[in-house]
Amino acid sequence: MAAGYQYFIVSRVTTVSNMPVSAEHIRTLHKYEKDILAALERSMKRFAWVPLEQLQLLTNLSESEVNYRLSRLIEWGMVRFNPVPYDGYALVFGGYDALALATLTKKGRISALGPMLGEGKESVVYEALGLGPVAIKFHRVGGRSFSSARLNREYMPEEGHCPWLLASKCSAMREYEALTRLHPDVSVPLPIDQNRHTVVMGLICGPSLNRCRLENPVQVLDEILENTKKAYRLGIIHSDLSEFNIMMDDGKCVIIDWPQWISPDHENAEAILGRDINNILTYFKRKYNLDYPYEDALQCVTG
Ligand SMILES: Nc1ncnc2c1ncn2[C@@H]1O[C@H](COP(=O)(O)OP(=O)(O)OP(=O)(O)O)[C@@H](O)[C@H]1O
Ligand SMILES: [Mg+2]
Repeated sequence: MAAGYQYFIVSRVTTVSNMPVSAEHIRTLHKYEKDILAALERSMKRFAWVPLEQLQLLTNLSESEVNYRLSRLIEWGMVRFNPVPYDGYALVFGGYDALALATLTKKGRISALGPMLGEGKESVVYEALGLGPVAIKFHRVGGRSFSSARLNREYMPEEGHCPWLLASKCSAMREYEALTRLHPDVSVPLPIDQNRHTVVMGLICGPSLNRCRLENPVQVLDEILENTKKAYRLGIIHSDLSEFNIMMDDGKCVIIDWPQWISPDHENAEAILGRDINNILTYFKRKYNLDYPYEDALQCVTG
C-alpha cells in the first residue's frame, strides 16, 4: 500500500488531513445511506430543502430508518438540516464528494485518495490511485464564499435549488469537455473521467511555472504560444491563462485549469484572448526580461 493514501476498497485506512471526505465513511456507507444521498441529489432541482416524506417516498424506507441514516450523514458533513419553514434536508459538498467518489470507485477509475496537490479559488485537487497515479479535481464553485464565485452565466445552471453543487458540476463538465477536445493536440492533462463535480485526469509531476527558474525561457514561451494557437484552432480560448495554470513536466509545459474556456465566437473573445496573451508576455518580461511584442504573439496565435 502506498503511503499517504486513503483506500476505498481495501480494509486498511491511512488518514490524511484535508480530505474532502473520509474514505472510511465512503467505504462503510450503508446502502440506505447511499440511497438517501442519491434521493437528495435527485430532489435538489425541485426542493431547496427536501422534506422527510419525499426521502421516504424515494427510498421506500421507514421514517425511523431515514431519520437514523440522516443523523449519520449529517454527522459526517454530507447532509445539512434546516428546520425552517419545515424540516428539510440538503446535500452539501461532502455528500456530493461521497457520491462522486463512490461512482468513480465502482467504475474502477480510482481506488484510493492521496495527498492534496493544490487548492485554488474554486477547486481542490488530490492525487489518487487509478490504473496508475492520477489527479482528481473537485470543483467548488461558490463553495468557500458565495461572493467570490465567478458569476459567469455559462457556469450557472438555469434551474435548481442547489446552485453551487449544480454550478460545480457544470464547471467540471466544461473542463472535461475542453480536455477531451484538446488532448492530445494541445499539451493538457490526459482526460480520464468526469463525474458530478469531479474531473479525473493525468497526474502532472512538476511545479507550476511561477515556481520555476527556466533555463530556456524563449523556448518555453514559444511552446505556450504554440499550444494557445492549437487550442484556438480547436475552438477553445483558455480565459485564465497565467503562470499559475501552466505546469512544467520534465521540461515540457502542460496547461491546466480549463473550466472557464470560451469559444472564439464569444462576444468578448478578442479581449479575453488578448488578456491571456498579455498575462504570459508580462510574466516573461517581469521574470526573464524577455521582450516579445504583443502584436507578434497575437499573430502567432490567431494567424
Ligand atoms: N493534473 C494535475 N496534476 C498535478 N497537479 C495538479 C493537476 N491539476 C491541478 N493540479 C494542482 O492543483 C492546483 C489547482 O488546480 P487548478 O489550477 O486546476 O484549479 P484552481 O486553481 O482551483 O482554479 P483557479 O485558478 O480558479 O483558482 C494547481 O495549481 C496544481 O498545483
Ligand atoms: Mg488554477
